[in-house]
Amino acid sequence: MVSVPAIAVDGIAASRKRIPPFALFQPASVTEALELLAAWPAAVLHAGGIDLANRMKAGLVAPAVIALDRIGEMKGVVRCRNSVNIGAAVTHWQIEHDSVVKSCLPAVAAYVAGLGNVRVRVQGTIGGNIMAAEPGYEILALLAALDANLHFARRSDGTRYAVEARGFQPAISAAADILLMISLPLHPTDLKWTREMRPNLGIVASLNRDGDSIRSGYGAVTGQVTAGSRLGITQSLSQREIAAADRHERAGSMTETTIQVTMKVTVNGDSRVVEIPANLLLVDLLRDRLGLRGTKVACDQGACGACTVLVDGLPMTSCLTFAFAMDCKSIVTIEGVSSADGALDSVQQAFHDAGVPQCGFCTPGMVLLAKALLDRAEEPDAIAIDDWLTANICRCSGYQVFRRALGCAEKPAS
Ligand SMILES: Cc1cc2nc3c(=O)[nH]c(=O)nc-3n(C[C@H](O)[C@H](O)[C@H](O)COP(=O)(O)OP(=O)(O)OC[C@H]3O[C@@H](n4cnc5c(N)ncnc54)[C@H](O)[C@@H]3O)c2cc1C
Ligand code: FES
Ligand code: FES
Repeated sequence: MVSVPAIAVDGIAASRKRIPPFALFQPASVTEALELLAAWPAAVLHAGGIDLANRMKAGLVAPAVIALDRIGEMKGVVRCRNSVNIGAAVTHWQIEHDSVVKSCLPAVAAYVAGLGNVRVRVQGTIGGNIMAAEPGYEILALLAALDANLHFARRSDGTRYAVEARGFQPAISAAADILLMISLPLHPTDLKWTREMRPNLGIVASLNRDGDSIRSGYGAVTGQVTAGSRLGITQSLSQREIAAADRHERAGSMTETTIQVTMKVTVNGDSRVVEIPANLLLVDLLRDRLGLRGTKVACDQGACGACTVLVDGLPMTSCLTFAFAMDCKSIVTIEGVSSADGALDSVQQAFHDAGVPQCGFCTPGMVLLAKALLDRAEEPDAIAIDDWLTANICRCSGYQVFRRALGCAEKPAS
């Protein structure tokens, strides 16, 4: 007998992990964020939210979330006399395309362009990568190799201080503070790196031009070191946070007004004002509130790309994106791709002609991924196509058909 996942009252499949309610704050300055942290000691910070959403699905309970995306000082890239300063809320994608980083630190732009996949780079921030302090994440290794400094605001008294990026220790000891900025010195270095997944040891080394000194950073170490450092952070945070969440709930301090958000969003060309709970994920807004069920959910943790939608033209992981972060954004789902009379879009037609869909579960996400790529570069080269295709998983078709549909593989001889 085929088992069909139960549908809960709110329409979300009962098998999916839920995120408990929280109060949402969107401060406009670091000072405001520090005041909120003082008032809500167990609040967690949200930058891009991919990691946070995953941790909350895994059981992290927080009474409040403080979103950093409205704090101007954390969002820019600035060239100073001896350094390039990158705000902690700058995304990997912005670093990869930033003209200052590309001209002053081209190797850094190139390194970041290979991190994770395009969905992760579009949403994930450099600060979130550092402060998640996951040994599998690469930015800390890169920063250690480049003699970077991390600039924080201390939670207890607002004091600003800087520490050298040296592996995971700074992120672990400053876990309660706000990372504001990363400062990369402009000394002339040739950056060499390797991404080696199998031994799970990533090494980034920088050499000066004369080759008389070498610095290195290490990352992606698995085994006991990984388990120890990772669990050390996540467990102590979650225990504190759970305890505080309980206290807040008992005190009745979570009011309707703080857990509901009203926002403007454009979906497939239609502008809407929606009132949503702060803990609602984008995929649930689309599928369950707006009835756009073409967006699929498979892994529910950011890995497969089935839930890909376009946000301001770029692919994002809707199962790990909080809907509140979509305020004033424009979203395209698969329902918005074909024309009103049902005629297929050129990407859909190319997929059809190449015989791409088999079970079809990955197809909506794949079509949107391909559209975003082709909208950016009319004729992307094979390297770009292969890089983007790594973002989404197809379990049936094999990737040659996608490559063929996108024009980078020869048609098989008939
Ligand atoms: C499928 C997948 C594949 C990935 N592959 C890679 C990879 O190959 N290489 C790699 O390096 N990374 C990889 N990542 C990790 C990704 O780069 C990080 O998840 C991302 O950078 C986190 O950024 P964020 O802005 O979403 O963080 P968030 O989820 O917003 O935050 C992460 C944590 O940091 C805290 N935090 C965020 N900003 C600050 C701040 N300014 N100050 C203090 N605390 C803060 C949050 O409270 C939270 O605890 C992958 C992630 C996924 C989901
Ligand atoms: S369902 Fe979102 S990435 Fe797999
Ligand atoms: S066609 Fe089945 S997963 Fe891609």
